[in-house]
Amino acid sequence: MEAIDAILSRRSIRKFENKSISKEIIEKIILSGMSAPSSKNRQPWSFIVFQGDEKKEMIEIFRKGAIEEFNNPKLLPNSGKFESGTRYTIDIMCQASTVIFVYNPFGKSPIENLSLEERFYDMANLQCVGACIENMSISATALGIGSLWICDIYFAYNELANWLNIDGQLIACMAFGYPAENPKQRPRKKIENIVEWRI
Ligand SMILES: Cc1cc2nc3c(=O)[nH]c(=O)nc-3n(C[C@H](O)[C@H](O)[C@H](O)COP(=O)(O)O)c2cc1C
Repeated sequence: MEAIDAILSRRSIRKFENKSISKEIIEKIILSGMSAPSSKNRQPWSFIVFQGDEKKEMIEIFRKGAIEEFNNPKLLPNSGKFESGTRYTIDIMCQASTVIFVYNPFGKSPIENLSLEERFYDMANLQCVGACIENMSISATALGIGSLWICDIYFAYNELANWLNIDGQLIACMAFGYPAENPKQRPRKKIENIVEWRI
């Protein structure tokens, strides 16, 4: 598949077949992520791959932490309105064969205050991890694997970061599986409304 075809045909996949993905394919997807450019070549990414019983345990930590946050918001005062979307995300993670957490080992917890210097450093690192995750989802598409980029994990940020036992900043997780749906492209803004040519 041409790179541009993989980019244009990538969709968020929320229904997966009950079929596992080989280690070889997962490693190809991660290698694609690691091939992203990064600020000063810092490569501010690390990965934790979940499958099987470990994935179930991780989802329970997420579920418990998120329900606690929705019932008694401590992190985000308005988190309650995201409850049904998060429950849906959890169902998707249950279906997915593999869930990969991506974290920035140089990052700080979002609760900490940053100096301006640290904030710029963090902004650059975040772009690198975004590029890495996008590479993973594009290469997955090219390999016939569906993916979903997930940030609903933030509703259980502290519980997950503690349970994962990571130093750094939890950025996102990605659910992967063989797709059981073929959605149309979700609406996009019109190019003329978002591009300004100055020539
Ligand atoms: C940073 C980021 C976080 C996202 N978090 C979630 C999520 O937690 N749950 C979910 O179902 N979709 C999530 N998505 C998927 C978006 O809803 C999806 O990309 C968007 O609606 C456009 O659809 P498309 O990916 O099919 O083009 C996330 C996407 C991004 C880039």
